[in-house]
Amino acid sequence: MSETTAQLLYLVAAVCFILALRGLSSPKTARNGNLIGAAGAGLATVTVFLYGDLDHELLILGAIAVGTVVGVVAAQRVQMTQMPQLVALFNGVGGAAAALVALLELDGIVDVDLAAVPTFTLVATAFTVVIGAVSFSGSMVTFAKLQGLITSRPVLFPGLPVLFGGALIGVVALSVVLVVEPRMWLGVILALVGLTVGVLLVLPVGGADVPIVISLLNAFTGLSVAAGGYILGNTLLLIGGTLVGAAGTLLTKLMANAMGRSLFNILFGALKGGSTLGGGEASDRPVRSASPQDVAILLAYASRVIVVPGYGLAVAQAQHTLRELVDVLGEKGIEVDYAIHPVAGRMPGHMNVLLAEAQVPYEQLKEMSDINGEFKQTDVVLVVGANDVVNPAAKTTPGAPIYGMPILAADEAKQVVFMKRSMRPGFAGIENELLFDPKTTLLFGDAKDMMGKLLSAVKSL
Ligand code: TAP
Repeated sequence: MSETTAQLLYLVAAVCFILALRGLSSPKTARNGNLIGAAGAGLATVTVFLYGDLDHELLILGAIAVGTVVGVVAAQRVQMTQMPQLVALFNGVGGAAAALVALLELDGIVDVDLAAVPTFTLVATAFTVVIGAVSFSGSMVTFAKLQGLITSRPVLFPGLPVLFGGALIGVVALSVVLVVEPRMWLGVILALVGLTVGVLLVLPVGGADVPIVISLLNAFTGLSVAAGGYILGNTLLLIGGTLVGAAGTLLTKLMANAMGRSLFNILFGALKGGSTLGGGEASDRPVRSASPQDVAILLAYASRVIVVPGYGLAVAQAQHTLRELVDVLGEKGIEVDYAIHPVAGRMPGHMNVLLAEAQVPYEQLKEMSDINGEFKQTDVVLVVGANDVVNPAAKTTPGAPIYGMPILAADEAKQVVFMKRSMRPGFAGIENELLFDPKTTLLFGDAKDMMGKLLSAVKSL
């Protein structure tokens, strides 16, 4: 294959990546966007085989086969609620791959006349090794936290800030030495110190902040892949990496804004004694609980209902029954909408994906900014497996881990019904005063089970 054809095919693949990002920006076009992106990646891989002067082709094909099998099986088996872990895992191996490629290139560089190697190539090599290693080890720690292999609370120990600061200085100093005097063993030590930085960066991050750090590490992987593209002289890697870096950075910022937190606070809050998210005890204060029949009557007498879905809806997989309930209420002439908080669930767009899976029409999904003014005129808010996203402590309790996070104004409605299993708090680990409000009713039970009972009760009215 000629150089021109290969570059043209790379250009087509790059356009596919950009179209994929465009598609992923709306639930309606996300599936197509995903397919276009995959097609671009496939095209790029085939082009490398036809154009590149490859050694060890059988080994590469074997690695691709193993990777494909692992990827397909993992993607098919993973539960929607485990998606952040899967992203962390995929992201981490991407960072590791970039770091390994840079180390191999370094191995080639040390053998040639140094004067022939541009300084910027050496800078890019050191950068790729460090950032790729940070991304790999950081992602593995986030995976372990989300998978419950280690505690999801912030892990702190005396001397951690000093160790982290020392490792950071070490990384900068070693990078400078590597650029001046490139040696393979220096590259390996740089990678090891980078791995340490990644671990120390993520250990103090707790609970609900972990998915944001995954997004940040995703941006890191993108940047290291882009720098790797520069080292290899591969424009497509440069473009793809930059897109991932930019998208990851924007997503990190959007998530931090939606939670009312600064990135600095998310990463280093626990070191200052704040941001200890996760865990939390169940309260034994009295609340008003009711039966599905009571709540069915409450709903049947309403003219305006808003459903607030949250993480528990995803865990219980109650989205199909919920959609049926909303349809039945609609047939009874009740106006029902879903209020979507930007960080409801455990990943960006979690509720949109979940409800789209249950064929809920997009028009019924209302963003927080669009629906918050309507709670005042709402008769009943049905909160299904959500907690933090309606917790007024975000507005009233300075010092609470979610203080400053914009919330859905469920507390302004005439009646609030919470469907949850117990009095345990949400991810932020703090009590929700709205549960104890005189206008609040609790429908205790697993969301799928309770939703079924509520649906039957509403149908029988
Ligand atoms: P949470 O505040 O975590 O509350 C979920 C509720 O669901 C819990 O109160 C739990 O109560 C209930 N639940 C769990 N399993 C259930 C089941 N099978 N049936 C019925 N209820 C069940 O969820 P949220 O309101 O969606 O808030 C999301 C949290 O995650 C926020 O703190 C947010 O900052 C954080 N977060 C989100 C993201 C993204 S991007 N979405 C990223 C990072 C962090 P019981 O245990 O009593 O049932």
